[in-house]
Amino acid sequence: MNNFDFINEELELLEKNNLKREIKTVKTANGPWVELTCGKRVLQFGSNNFLGLSSHPDVINSIKSAASKFGAGSTGSRLLSGSSELHSELEKVIAKFESSEDSICFSSGYSTNIGILSSLIGKEDVVYSDEYNHASIIDGIRFSGAKKFIYKHLDVNHLESLILENSTKFRRSFIVTDTVFSMDGDIAPLAEIGEIAQKYDCITIVDEAHATGVFSSDGSGLVSDLGLNNFYPIKIGTFSKAFGLEGGFCSGPKNVIEFLRNKARSFMFSTSPSPAIVGGVLKSLELLKDGSWRREKLWQNAKQLHTGLKKIYKLPVNNFKTPIITLTFKNIDDVMIFSNRLLNECHIWAPAIRPPTVKEPRIRFTPISTHSEDDIDYVIRAVDFLSKDLKVEPAFLST
Ligand SMILES: Cc1ncc(COP(=O)(O)O)c(C=O)c1O
Repeated sequence: MNNFDFINEELELLEKNNLKREIKTVKTANGPWVELTCGKRVLQFGSNNFLGLSSHPDVINSIKSAASKFGAGSTGSRLLSGSSELHSELEKVIAKFESSEDSICFSSGYSTNIGILSSLIGKEDVVYSDEYNHASIIDGIRFSGAKKFIYKHLDVNHLESLILENSTKFRRSFIVTDTVFSMDGDIAPLAEIGEIAQKYDCITIVDEAHATGVFSSDGSGLVSDLGLNNFYPIKIGTFSKAFGLEGGFCSGPKNVIEFLRNKARSFMFSTSPSPAIVGGVLKSLELLKDGSWRREKLWQNAKQLHTGLKKIYKLPVNNFKTPIITLTFKNIDDVMIFSNRLLNECHIWAPAIRPPTVKEPRIRFTPISTHSEDDIDYVIRAVDFLSKDLKVEPAFLST
């Protein structure tokens, strides 16, 4: 008998409901193929390495030379010893890339959302948040202490009705949304949300984590691709998806960024990103901006996969909006069987996404620009074979 019996009970419950997470470990660089520690070589369809930059030799060389020059670790927070020339350079180039006055960088996308939302928004304010916003947005809003209203996913009518009902009772109103939804692969109605924000004097904050590098001719994201920068002065992004590294950023007006440097607690009270990573991000940004052929190949691969899966009888594939392609299932057991068979029999690593990450269980496929046409074709044939063989009657949840 010990004080941790409750932990065992919780773990047993997760196990019983097929919700216990298991970490799979890789022993090679992340690319279209990876080798797992069990020795299996598998096609990687579950990463966010959209442009394949995570293992690009130029990025790796930049990491090495930044580490040689500035050391391995940053040694402190940005406000103490942890601000190298590379950090300042990165904030300048990101501001330019985002067509903003200034930018601020964080150690992760998660800590970016925590820092931005909890400092810009206060207890006296109200936040309207899309039902499917990322966990880091949800947590950032919680930390702000503001009153939160959740509008139905992508539903601008619901958003407007909540604003009409509530906004006058609060000091300031904020609308916060992902631009690309990471687990659904759909996109926010940004023009409509922007108009509503203007009409009712709401401040918008958007998270472009899965849009940066993927949308617009220079990769600067969905907001700029749609020509909506005027509606969205404050944008959040990450270096952990298309950049292939780690870290996050917020771009915006000079005074907002200066405020964040003084108030965002996850910036002030956390060791800054290592100079090596920042060196890699700077190189990755160059490749990402200038390599529109990588984006074209990414979209081509995504389209090939989506079209192929759509042709399979009764398969519940999401609508094609982004390179995040999902198959939804009625229950957790089915999705686990499907994902495990993809891995064990077909050597395809496409993770099952379960509650609480999403409401409806699904397989999430993320093709990347370095997959070949044959890789994609193989996945389509494997899914076709398994869906027939398993006789899983999939739910039509996301179509
Ligand atoms: C929309 C969104 N915001 C923020 C994050 C967190 O980013 P990071 O993994 O860099 O902490 C993610 C991660 O998947 C995300 O999808």
